[in-house]
Amino acid sequence: MKKILNYGAISILSVMLILFVAGIVTSDDYGAGESLFKNNCQFCHHLKGDDNYPTAYYLQFKPKDFADSDSWKGLDEQKIATTIQKGKGAMPPINLKPEERKSIIDYMTHKLKN
Ligand code: HEC
Repeated sequence: MKKILNYGAISILSVMLILFVAGIVTSDDYGAGESLFKNNCQFCHHLKGDDNYPTAYYLQFKPKDFADSDSWKGLDEQKIATTIQKGKGAMPPINLKPEERKSIIDYMTHKLKN
């Protein structure tokens, strides 16, 4: 009987499957963080290119635009986590589960930081 799949085809298919699964996992990770950021942070922390940027609130309190590389000076994951939990200046504490906080921070450091 004729072999339909040889080893070459099987390894190519396996690599494609791994890439596909990895793609789902990573896009899901940041996707969740992105929507959490949109719902909990972005109405104050506008990103350049937002429809209504800048707002009056933005002009008065200057919440950082995390798409701007200057805003990352002196900022690390621990500081972001503390700011979310305790608030800072005009920013109130944001009530989030630890895993939601982590997913926002992952999104910010991988997708916004440049
Ligand atoms: C009600 C508006 C508002 C919301 C909602 C908000 N922030 Fe802020 N945030 C601010 C303001 C205003 C500042 C500047 C505070 C200051 O330095 O006086 C700030 C500062 C920060 C800083 C800088 C801290 C530092 O030490 O430089 C980080 C990081 C931050 N916010 C992250 C977040 C994240 C993440 C979220 C969503 C989970 C969020 N913020 C939601 C208004 C907000």
